[in-house]
Amino acid sequence: MTPDTILRWGLLSTARINRSLIPPLRASPRNRLVAVASRDPAKAEAYAREWNIERAFGSYEALLESPEIDVVYISLPNSLHAEWTIKALRAGKHVLCEKPLTTRVEDADAIAVAAQEAGKVVAEAFMYRHHPQTLKVKSLIECGAIGEVRLVRGAFTFTLTDRANVRVNAGLDGGCVWDVGCYPISYARTMIGAEPVEAFGMQFTGPSGVDETFVGTLRFGEDVYAQFDCGFRAPFRMHMEIVGSEGLIVIPRPFKPTARETIYIGKASDQLEPMAIEGPELLYLGEVEDMADAILNGAAPRISLHDSRANVAAILALLRSAREGRPVKV
Ligand SMILES: NC(=O)c1ccc[n+]([C@@H]2O[C@H](COP(=O)([O-])OP(=O)(O)OC[C@H]3O[C@@H](n4cnc5c(N)ncnc54)[C@H](OP(=O)(O)O)[C@@H]3O)[C@@H](O)[C@H]2O)c1
Repeated sequence: MTPDTILRWGLLSTARINRSLIPPLRASPRNRLVAVASRDPAKAEAYAREWNIERAFGSYEALLESPEIDVVYISLPNSLHAEWTIKALRAGKHVLCEKPLTTRVEDADAIAVAAQEAGKVVAEAFMYRHHPQTLKVKSLIECGAIGEVRLVRGAFTFTLTDRANVRVNAGLDGGCVWDVGCYPISYARTMIGAEPVEAFGMQFTGPSGVDETFVGTLRFGEDVYAQFDCGFRAPFRMHMEIVGSEGLIVIPRPFKPTARETIYIGKASDQLEPMAIEGPELLYLGEVEDMADAILNGAAPRISLHDSRANVAAILALLRSAREGRPVKV
């Protein structure tokens, strides 16, 4: 490894989620964590000391201006993703941006233009997409193990009690669909291998004005559907089930798979057999290595901007449907 084949990363904010990315950045020989930035210089300094990061920047702009950074990880609240992704691209940085990449389709398009103009890589940080379990389920479907996919259904919920959390802040584009519903929606689109044409959603709106429970249906062409629920007002649950014309697959831990997982596959729900799948010890290593493959080897990122844009469009259609109380075209 020569120095110019090691990517120097900067964290844009001191978000909680950073702690999932720091260990894989340190474990990967092609990547190196160099800096953190915060809106507050003292917070940046304290964070750098706590996490043993060599450089601390007292503003996001200062990190973007630094020639010592090649890749920026954007872990800001949802409403700031597009703005800072575009600023980072214009500053000549590659970007790994937390999900959801944006909360407006126009912003996804603006990111694509900015990436093209800068000649830099941008990817949405949907870590589950890189795990061998997800790749295995997709390959089982592609080789016809359960026939034609007819229905993908699942859930992602947890209990959120902290009313100051960014997830219940309407001004920061909080809400449970952007936060956790984006996973089953992404999962269904990935496994069906097509985009939804119609959406129907119902929601419970919390005191802060964001969706805190959401139940949604997507129709993908003729007799192919996805159904999910997500929210902040139920116990921690995550699971997916894929129903095909000749069988089904049950995935108990679809979004946060561990190093040793088991999925279940069979012709019917009383004939399911376990299938063991091994993955990396560090779940978030996959997205870090995917960025290195894209930047250093010119590979296409596993999650294209087109893919991220389509997830945003599906979410917006579901939210519009819940607002209007009727099914809407995507
Ligand atoms: N992929 C995953 O597994 C996963 C898991 C959790 C979260 N996420 C995503 O990561 C992002 C961050 O989530 P989080 O829970 O880690 O957030 P968080 O702990 O609340 O951190 C957000 C950070 O953004 C900065 N910030 C800038 N403007 C802000 C504002 N107006 N209000 C609050 N913070 C502001 C703050 O950093 P400074 O004060 O240092 O500037 C803050 O620490 C979200 O987009 C979320 O969807 C992804």
